[in-house]
Amino acid sequence: MKILGISGSLRKASHNSAILRACAELMPQGMTLSIARIDDLPLFNQDIFDAGLPEPAKRIRAEITAADGVLIASPEYNFSLTAALKNAIDWASRPPSQCWQDKPVAIFSASQGPLGGARVQYDLRRILGQLWAHVLPRPEVFIGSGPTKFTDGKLTDEATRKFLTDLLAGFKPWIERMRVKK
Ligand SMILES: Cc1cc2nc3c(=O)[nH]c(=O)nc-3n(C[C@H](O)[C@H](O)[C@H](O)COP(=O)(O)O)c2cc1C
Repeated sequence: MKILGISGSLRKASHNSAILRACAELMPQGMTLSIARIDDLPLFNQDIFDAGLPEPAKRIRAEITAADGVLIASPEYNFSLTAALKNAIDWASRPPSQCWQDKPVAIFSASQGPLGGARVQYDLRRILGQLWAHVLPRPEVFIGSGPTKFTDGKLTDEATRKFLTDLLAGFKPWIERMRVKK
């Protein structure tokens, strides 16, 4: 089962990206994680789309299409999605072959503050829902006080590791259940 990870944060020291990478070792057997890059996508512009897809847009569309499921980790920026994440979603959303159609998705968020970026998740559910992606309803994972969960750059907080393990364990049967017969 191929899982594509997308982090909504572009910064090198991103906690969301670091936690996303740590998910590779917390996944149940039979799941593998590869992480997409979205920092080289141009800002979505229908004129560019119509003139011929830029390589990074082709790449992310192909990666989402090929994945059995997409795992999104994102901080909350001003109570919602980061522009980078929304841009990636938009590039993959335009027909033909709307890439989010019937795609199983799991999400989590991490922030420096105590709420764990809760609000970004509800906006993500709204956006992906109208694209006919199937977002795992529960468990919800909000990782507050992000920087305190790491020791020497490694995700060491046991409670956080357990929340993520449960999320990924729930994602596997969700993907099987949502699989569309072709
Ligand atoms: C433009 C901007 C807006 C932000 N808005 C919020 C916010 O609404 N809620 C929140 O909890 N944190 C907010 N933050 C703080 C982020 O949660 C924090 O920078 C977090 O560590 C970013 O995630 P990362 O470590 O994966 O880059 C904001 C940060 C930036 C740069």
